[in-house]
Amino acid sequence: MTEGIDRIWPDGAERLTDDELLAAIDHEGVRVNFVASIDGAATHDGRSGGLSGPADQRYFELLRRVADVVVVGAGTVRVEGYTAMRVSDASAAWREAHGRDRHPVFAIVSRSLELDPASAIFTDAPVRPILLTTSRARGASRFEAVADVVVAGDERVDGARAAAALRERGLTRVLCEGGPTLFGAMLADDAVDELCLTVEPSLESGAAVRIAHGADVSRAMRLASVLRSGSTLFLRYARP
Ligand SMILES: NC(=O)c1ccc[n+]([C@@H]2O[C@H](COP(=O)([O-])OP(=O)(O)OC[C@H]3O[C@@H](n4cnc5c(N)ncnc54)[C@H](OP(=O)(O)O)[C@@H]3O)[C@@H](O)[C@H]2O)c1
Repeated sequence: MTEGIDRIWPDGAERLTDDELLAAIDHEGVRVNFVASIDGAATHDGRSGGLSGPADQRYFELLRRVADVVVVGAGTVRVEGYTAMRVSDASAAWREAHGRDRHPVFAIVSRSLELDPASAIFTDAPVRPILLTTSRARGASRFEAVADVVVAGDERVDGARAAAALRERGLTRVLCEGGPTLFGAMLADDAVDELCLTVEPSLESGAAVRIAHGADVSRAMRLASVLRSGSTLFLRYARP
């Protein structure tokens, strides 16, 4: 059974179907998706999965369903144990029916390149992944057989350059699943068009990171929609 999600703003609608939810999110641009506790923690026991409930998991999959590329920082890849990027069978069927590849491209952002080219992320990938890195990174040649290595900065990957490089490849619906360091860099580079934030009904206190981390940056955003499933809120903010 799917987790019921209602829209409460800008207009009310109950128990939205997948197609109704997709209609609002299937567009071009750079979208970032996070889950947080009410008090702003981005992790529970060090991972986002500890915060995420079934409705968030449904929405998370729908965000992937419409993405051309899913961009993730290497820290999150390592901590959350990402494997090859595959959407669900339902999402793959939807994508195929809409003339898209069955799976989005997986783009990993790393400066250190402390990743294993023999890991399932690369060897089991249904679509050749992209490694977004810097001109200073060492050992990029280790990945050439298993990924497209794209340089998008010197000291660190520049979010705007990375988005432009993805656009040049026809990857215009960009979904970034974090983490906070990557989101902070993308904010600094003014590379974020939309934020989808799930607020889960828990208070975490402690030392958990927030969803963005990095240099002081202030960006005003405009509320685009509010969805609700029980006590969970799904807030979507866009560029003003
Ligand atoms: N609540 C949520 O929705 C959510 C989502 C994602 C992650 N998280 C949590 O966030 C924590 C990880 O935080 P994090 O800040 O370490 O995540 P992160 O941003 O994914 O990882 C940081 C690492 O990613 C690479 N990176 C990020 N931005 C870069 C840039 N501009 N240029 C070059 N490399 C870049 C670097 O990798 P190298 O070290 O390889 O150079 C950097 O050390 C985990 O606990 C995870 O569970 C929560």
